[in-house]
Order: sequence, then structure tokens, then C-alpha cells
Amino acid sequence: MSISQIAKSISESVTLKLNEKAAILREKGDPVIHLGGGEPKCKAPMDALVATAAHLNTGEIRYTPADGTPALKKAIIRYTEENYNRKAAPENVMASGGAKQAIMVALQAVVNPQEEVIFPCPYWVSYPDMVKLCQGIPVPVKPEDGTFYPRIQDIEQRVGSYTKAVIINSPNNPSGAMYSQEFIADIVEFCEKRDLYLIMDDIYHRLVFDGKKPINSYEFAKDHSENSKLILINGVSKVYAMSGFRIGWAVANKNLIKVMTNIQSHQTSGPSVLLQKAAIGAMNGIQSPIENMRVTLENNRNIMVDHLNSFEGVKVTKPDGTFYCFADFSNYDEDSTRLSNMLIDKVQVLTVPGVEFGMEGFLRLSYCGSIKDIKEGIERMKWALDLNSPNELYIGDRKLVRDWA
Ligand SMILES: Cc1ncc(COP(=O)(O)O)c(C=O)c1O
Repeated sequence: MSISQIAKSISESVTLKLNEKAAILREKGDPVIHLGGGEPKCKAPMDALVATAAHLNTGEIRYTPADGTPALKKAIIRYTEENYNRKAAPENVMASGGAKQAIMVALQAVVNPQEEVIFPCPYWVSYPDMVKLCQGIPVPVKPEDGTFYPRIQDIEQRVGSYTKAVIINSPNNPSGAMYSQEFIADIVEFCEKRDLYLIMDDIYHRLVFDGKKPINSYEFAKDHSENSKLILINGVSKVYAMSGFRIGWAVANKNLIKVMTNIQSHQTSGPSVLLQKAAIGAMNGIQSPIENMRVTLENNRNIMVDHLNSFEGVKVTKPDGTFYCFADFSNYDEDSTRLSNMLIDKVQVLTVPGVEFGMEGFLRLSYCGSIKDIKEGIERMKWALDLNSPNELYIGDRKLVRDWA
């Protein structure tokens, strides 16, 4: 088959593929525990549902402006002011089909072929392929001290004449690490000094634990003019548990937003009007579901970390936020894909191999599901991997017998 060079360089989204795998196995009746999920399990806010239903009832389901409706932009402007103390104009805002599209369009707007985009390791699975879609070069940077917390010198060392942009995602998918205030201040200052675009992927920004407060990158910016190269990405998928609604956005300088809107206008036009209504409903509605979910996630995180800590041979860094834990399983198998496959095949626990996030030997485990799933999932993994555990395990009334060593 004759396909483009770009298409050849792109791989499937592993996380989406794993979701599919879990669904197929469940359909077959297998008792799968999905610790690979990337979305909160609580229901979407009632205000979102009511707003969508009300608009659906009008029967007037039309195109919207390519950068989003004025009402959604107004809600985004208010959100940005409340959460970031940053006043934005409607021309500084573009709504998209998820934060994913907002990041993709931002990259398309700024990256030329062969230009480099830097991001710390571990990184969200989509960044490398998104950069490749722009014919750019992804440059993952592993913190030299072996932690999940990059230092400015790690980034500095990799910046060269081809560097065009830096992407920072904190709190981070997959590690759950929330980068320090000092690092965010340093990276904002560094990108301003070196005239680099800084894409702040803040999709998890309010899902932080242990009394931590979200960090506001604008606080450290010196350039608040329309020349600023800071691009703030956000959306309703995680914080409002509205992943299927596909609404995200970018806040940036007016010229860049204009260019991004031109690109988006030829790709998808504006996001669906119904889903924009839903996002407006959620953002203008009762906000308590966010805090309720955050508290639940913090409790789930504690349970997962406690269980993993009782797992000899697994190294865990306590996540500061998100709903992921990125644990080092290299004592059991250095090949995370093989290990993840073994866990789904033998004990029907779905995990995501660390190699997909740029770190081999790790597994990403999600704690956005039920406590029962977290506990049982880790128990099953322990049984599969700890050869000192009994030879048999019951899953419901199914008896598993270890046939591997
Ligand atoms: C780090 C990160 N950025 C962006 C996204 C995309 O979010 P959305 O559902 O708004 O497209 C995700 C989703 O998993 C993510 O983990």
C-alpha cells in the first residue's frame, strides 16, 4: 500500500488500543480489571447534561465559529481568570475537540519540518507522534537524576538552534509528578529568554493532592504582551469528568490564535455546538463535583500506593496529582510490553507499558476506577509476579493455577 512518509512514521495510540482490548475481553465475559484507564469514572456534571439536552431540544444544531461560540469563550475566559488570574480577550482563546486537538493545532501552527520540540520524560504518549505529524523532531529529555522531576539544566542541555518549542505537562501523565514551582518559574523564564514557544499542558492542573495548590505559569511570565509565546492548554475531560465530550482549548497571543483558528477551520471547523453547550454548563455550573472527585482520587492514590508498597520488588514514587501511578517493575521484567501482556493474559489486569511513555521497565497504573478494582488488580498482579505466593488464585469461581515460573 502506498502511504505517506508521515503516515508511516505514526503509530497507533497505545492507550486507546488497550481500552479496546479491555472492552473486547469484557464482552467475552472475562473478568478484566482495567488499571490502564485515562478518564475519571464519575458521571459528567448535571449542569452539563441539562445544558446539552436543552439545546438538543431546540433542534437547531448548527455550525459554530471555528474557534468556538462566544458563550464558550466567555466561560473559558472566566475559568482562566479565576484559576490563573489572567485576563484574556476572546481573540486569545480557541476552543477545540479536546485538549488533544488544541495541542496538535498549536504544534501545526509553530513547528516547521526538522524543528525540534522538547518535553520531559516520562511524557504523554501522544507528544512524539503529534510532533512527527508536523514533520518535526520529538526530543524527549530524561531527568539526569533519574527522578520524574526535570531540572532546568536537563532541558537547557538539549536546546539548540533547531528547538522551536517545549511542552510541559504538570501534574504529569503518566508519573503523577507535579513539577516544582521553581522549575515552572525557570522554564517560563528560560523560554522567554530563548524565544521558544512554551506549551503548558495543564489538563490535570486541579487534580493535585496533599494540600498542594495548582501552579500558575503566568505568575512567572515577564511578557504579558501579545508577543508572549506561552500557550496554555486546558479542557473539561479530566477535571469535569467529561472525556467523551471532547472539549478543550488553548489560550495564547492573538496572532497565534488567529493562525490556529485558520488551521482548525480547515480540519474540523468548530467543535460540536452540543458539546460546547455541555462544557459551558459544566464551567458555569456547580463546581463542587471537582473537589469531590479530587478527594476521591487522593484516597484512591493512597490505597494504590499502600498496596504497591507491600509489593516487594516494585519501586513507587508517590504521585502528587492526576490519577496515575508510574511504578518501576523492572525487577520482574525489564520489558514493560512483555510484562503488560503477561498480566493481561494470565490474570486479566490491564496496565500500560512504560516504554510508551519513554521509560522502559515501568508500568502505568490508573487509580481512577473503584477501590475494589485497585485492590483486586494489585493482588492479582502480586500473585502473578511473586513466585512465593500460593500456586492457585480464585477470580470469582474461576481457579487459576500458575503454569509459569
Ligand atoms: C497529558 C494529557 N494531555 C492532553 C490530553 C488530552 O485530553 P482531551 O481529552 O481533552 O483531548 C490527555 C488525555 O489523556 C493527557 O493525558
